Amino acid sequence: MKTLHICSELYPLVKTGGLADVLGALPFAQKQAGMDVRVLLPMYPSVAEKIGETGHVAYHHTFAGDIEIRYADYNGVGLYLIDAPQLYRRDGNPYHDQYYADYGDNYLRFGLLGWVGASLAAGSDSWWKPDLVHGHDWQSGLAFAYLRAWAVPVKTVFTIHNIAYAGIFSGHHLAELGLPAYMYGTYGLEFYGQMSYLKAGLYYADHITTVSPTYAREITLPEHGYGFHGLLGERAAQGRLSGILNGVDDATWNPATDNNIAKPYQPNHMQGKRVDKHTLQQTYNLPTDDSVPLLVMITRLTEQKGADILLAAAETLLARPLQLAVLGTGSPDLEAAFRDLEARHPDKVGVRITYNEALSHQMIAGGDVILVPSRFEPCGLTQLYGLKYGTLPLVRETGGLADTVTNTQPDTLANKTATGFTFYDPTPDALLSTVGRMLESWHNPKQWAAIRATAMAQDNSWHKAAEAYDALYNSL
Ligand code: ADP
Ligand code: GLC
Repeated sequence: MKTLHICSELYPLVKTGGLADVLGALPFAQKQAGMDVRVLLPMYPSVAEKIGETGHVAYHHTFAGDIEIRYADYNGVGLYLIDAPQLYRRDGNPYHDQYYADYGDNYLRFGLLGWVGASLAAGSDSWWKPDLVHGHDWQSGLAFAYLRAWAVPVKTVFTIHNIAYAGIFSGHHLAELGLPAYMYGTYGLEFYGQMSYLKAGLYYADHITTVSPTYAREITLPEHGYGFHGLLGERAAQGRLSGILNGVDDATWNPATDNNIAKPYQPNHMQGKRVDKHTLQQTYNLPTDDSVPLLVMITRLTEQKGADILLAAAETLLARPLQLAVLGTGSPDLEAAFRDLEARHPDKVGVRITYNEALSHQMIAGGDVILVPSRFEPCGLTQLYGLKYGTLPLVRETGGLADTVTNTQPDTLANKTATGFTFYDPTPDALLSTVGRMLESWHNPKQWAAIRATAMAQDNSWHKAAEAYDALYNSL
């Protein structure tokens, strides 16, 4: 079966978050499992720079101007790239400018991504035509509308990585995008008086997946459905919604082979982790101290990630014997609040407001605990990296966090399944009491070592997910 992924990020070519990590790994795992997969991606400057030589596939005259589809082999997986400088040749973040303002022509930029995806399924490349189109998040959503409008005989899967981003634009663009007027309605793209690219995927795809079983249930409820819970509840009832957990790319995230870190280590040889901790403490100008746990957080600073919960708990938290190192960018308010926190407690807190891939590895390796206090979390990847590096996750019990971290308590200690620390209420108190439990374990080194060993033994490799997607594709 030939499968085409449609996406807007792929690590290491372009990345703003976990979506890129997934597309930088899943197609390659699928290829390894013997599947014929290709990926479609806009040709942003960083992509053009890293990819090198590309070959011509097709020219098209479109609503977004004249464009060219190009092709390159990338580590064994075929990449289709959309060369449309008028839309994609902008440095920095793929979605917004340096002031965090979304580009005004995003409806065209990602409308075109969907259009080209559909055109490949309709035969744009005479050498290769997918049997199945697999789109990711709202940026790919219009592909499913075009496929329906053009009645292309292809199976379709749409994966929700984050339902909070619905790709909302004015319905007035419909004609310009070349979509039929009948699609603008409740039974189609319309969403509270506007058009949602995400809804195109939710409504027209043969099957919807999301990146964890728990999130697949949560999004059918008002609290987490962002207005789509009704539609998703119906699709779930038809057996058209399921959850498949993300994995960890062993080539990028492995403490034994990671060349971003000071000293590699592995389950039976943990000495390197101590060196990595000291290095990280130095990087963040914190005292080199083995006696206190070093808590790390690597995150987009948004409402989703619960950074404000951590900030609200911070003064009480920092009265305890621990250190905190934060790496993140996002909302200016949160960035400023973390800078303030560091200024008030320079001996206990280190903050880096930047995006730094190498430092993120050093944090996962050098930390003792990875914090993920998210309000919602479709899957979450940093807790998976933490497990693999023996950096115990302290997380809110939601979405993929609930599915991948086992809380430390008497029964899970006894049956050796504990891998971290979880809390349910999205409140500073719940976070603080869980930090208290974490510190109890920390002060019991034998217990800590046992939890860490279980964490590091978890198998979150991508081949499991690749198999699950394969089974789904075949069922369609
Ligand atoms: P999300 O996709 O919602 O942001 P995930 O946990 O799935 O959350 O993935 C986040 C990814 O982005 C991880 O690979 C994480 O290490 C990375 N990341 C987030 N912020 C930064 C940063 N400031 N510097 C480096 N990497 C970051
Ligand atoms: C989204 C989610 C995150 C998930 C990632 C990859 O960005 O917020 O939870 O891990 O996509 O699927």
